[in-house]
Amino acid sequence: MRKIAICLLAFVLLTLPSVADEGMWIPMLLKKYNIEDMQKAGFKLTAEDIYSINQASLKDAVVGLGYEDRPFSHFCTGEIVSDQGLVITNHHCSYGMIQAHSTLEHNYLRDGFWASSLKEELINPGITASILVRMEDVTERIMKAVEGVADEASRAEKIKEECERIEAAAVEGTNLKANIKPYFNGNQYFMCVFKVFRDVRLVGAPNSAIGKFGGDTDNWVWPRHTGDFSVLRIYAGKDNEPAEVSEHNVPYKPAKSFKISARGMNEGDFTMVFGYPGTTKEYLTSYAIDQIAQVENPNKVKIRTAKLNVINEAMASDELLRIKYSAKAASVANAWKKWQGEIKGLERFRTADGKRRMEQEFDNWVRTSGNSEYAGLTARYKKLYEARRGYVLALAYASEAGLGGAEIIGLLSLFDKFFKVYEETEDKEALKVGLLERTKAFYKDYDVVTDLRILKEMLRLYNSSGMEEHWIPEEVRALAGDMSDLDKWFKKSIFTDQARLEAFVGDLTSKSIAKARKEPLYRMMQGIQTLVKEQISPRLNEIQRELSMLDRAWIAGLMEMRPDKVFYPDANSTLRVAYGKIAGYAPRDGVYYLPYTTLSGIIEKDNPDIYDYNVPERLKELYRTKDFGPYAQDGDVPVCFIATNHTTGGNSGSPVLDGEGNLVGINFDRAWEGVMSDMQYSSEICRNIAVDIRYVLFIIDKYAGARRLIDEMDIVF
Ligand code: ARG
Ligand code: GLU
Repeated sequence: MRKIAICLLAFVLLTLPSVADEGMWIPMLLKKYNIEDMQKAGFKLTAEDIYSINQASLKDAVVGLGYEDRPFSHFCTGEIVSDQGLVITNHHCSYGMIQAHSTLEHNYLRDGFWASSLKEELINPGITASILVRMEDVTERIMKAVEGVADEASRAEKIKEECERIEAAAVEGTNLKANIKPYFNGNQYFMCVFKVFRDVRLVGAPNSAIGKFGGDTDNWVWPRHTGDFSVLRIYAGKDNEPAEVSEHNVPYKPAKSFKISARGMNEGDFTMVFGYPGTTKEYLTSYAIDQIAQVENPNKVKIRTAKLNVINEAMASDELLRIKYSAKAASVANAWKKWQGEIKGLERFRTADGKRRMEQEFDNWVRTSGNSEYAGLTARYKKLYEARRGYVLALAYASEAGLGGAEIIGLLSLFDKFFKVYEETEDKEALKVGLLERTKAFYKDYDVVTDLRILKEMLRLYNSSGMEEHWIPEEVRALAGDMSDLDKWFKKSIFTDQARLEAFVGDLTSKSIAKARKEPLYRMMQGIQTLVKEQISPRLNEIQRELSMLDRAWIAGLMEMRPDKVFYPDANSTLRVAYGKIAGYAPRDGVYYLPYTTLSGIIEKDNPDIYDYNVPERLKELYRTKDFGPYAQDGDVPVCFIATNHTTGGNSGSPVLDGEGNLVGINFDRAWEGVMSDMQYSSEICRNIAVDIRYVLFIIDKYAGARRLIDEMDIVF
């Protein structure tokens, strides 16, 4: 039996076509670098079909989701699946929107939400959906602008100015938006020109028991059974162009929408992910890797563990607290868990050792090639990372345990900003209105008891961090040293009671502001801010500036050293293509994970006593009666699958496509053993996780009964 399994595995591995797997490629350059390799791996279309400026192409159906004030740092990706601007993305991408529309009476997180007509689709102020119109290499112009500029700070300033000039000229007289970003650590620059839609509505979302099935327990883990999808719609003005939110807007008619394939995929089949990966750091040196694995990640993990312990307890105790803290907890837990996986992966794959070997090779190359430009580069890296260590740690505590620790501290920094404008502004009334709005929004999801508990934990950790004393603000030391007064200060504070705070804002005066500023909590917040501003940031920024010079030279050097290798740029929240194949993997000795999960697996996990595994009755009934519609395969409904596509945060919601460019899944996660792929990708173990489109359709159609959405889509069976 065992022999057969091993033979089978070997067979599977051997017969998989060899594909590069690693890499997040620039759509505009696929023709030059990738398309042959992609076609060899099973891709049936052309590079023009993916990205074209002359005809409708797949890129026209991919959307970057963002916020109005920073639309180009896409927090997620989505894909258009109908000629009426219907968009699918992840449940966790819309989580904030679903949560914002939820109350105890209409608890869409718990019960799901399905608009039964266009009229019922819910507006989400501030959310944007960007569609790439074209991109352009602007490297030469940027490099020309900085010719002969040696000082790194003025160089950055010059680049910024030149970017703004080019961006403005590119979109003059249009309603498009242009954005230039550096690639390869600033060795290249590309401009992306977008249509940015500002009216994005919530159309549907399954209840969390489906959309977040497995919760934070299963997060970052394979095998997985999460129906992590939701449905949005882009609205445009009558002219089909981006418009302000308005009831007169109409569903956007896209140039292209994805055809959906419900035919299913097999291990070894080609897949590609087309979306907006946020940040990767594939070209870091061993010094950086060591610092992340030994200093940054472990300390941030420790702080968040303490915070999560408090939040999870609160959420388990009360339904309202669960609503209030669900989105916050998910976001705290997400990075917390990833950082732990990263540490493990970096250690297991001896990433730092591998980097050290590469650095040695580089040094040898520099010596033998007589290339003096790069002489001493690795030694300077070493010195800078040593210098950076203390600052990075101090910043981790200041931000994770301090300013981003208890929420009240965040509120205080916000008020602090407003107070600073108060003296200068003419329009004090408008300022008050703004403050009242913020106050209301804050208190909608705030619980004083929970936050005080968090604050205490944060102070305790901050104070016992083992850092030299000058890295811990005096006010933190004082409050943490003697917590007996803390309850009293907290209780009495103007800021810890909504009515009190609203009254305070209502008759804001210079005098009352002065009084508020004297509160111990306020002074502590200021103490941390001052530490960051005066002790940490100036030197850290200086180090970062020097590092960015090295980083630029490092990549340029590597490219020179390996002229035959095709490099891909680190993710930077711009549109990329990753391609690979459906594949299982061996997480550890003696175990092989299949690349598919099914509805049966959900039923296996069912446990009404565990919140994350409480399967809804309706789903169990569909299972019992085998009411699967046309979405089943081998008598079961496929739920999730994994593939070797190289993805990262921001790729959430990205379309996973088959060789013909049909939508077969929605990307939403990566598997635990390979989350170090932001720093080192390994096709052996790095897997992206997608929800199978057939599960999405099954839930929309059979579970939620939202036929009108299915009817909009173009599905091939
Ligand atoms: N790990 C996925 C990502 O990085 C999903 C996160 C949301 N889910 C959760 N359980 N917190 O975004
Ligand atoms: N869940 C991630 C996101 O929100 C995608 C998973 C990853 O980091 O690869 O973008």
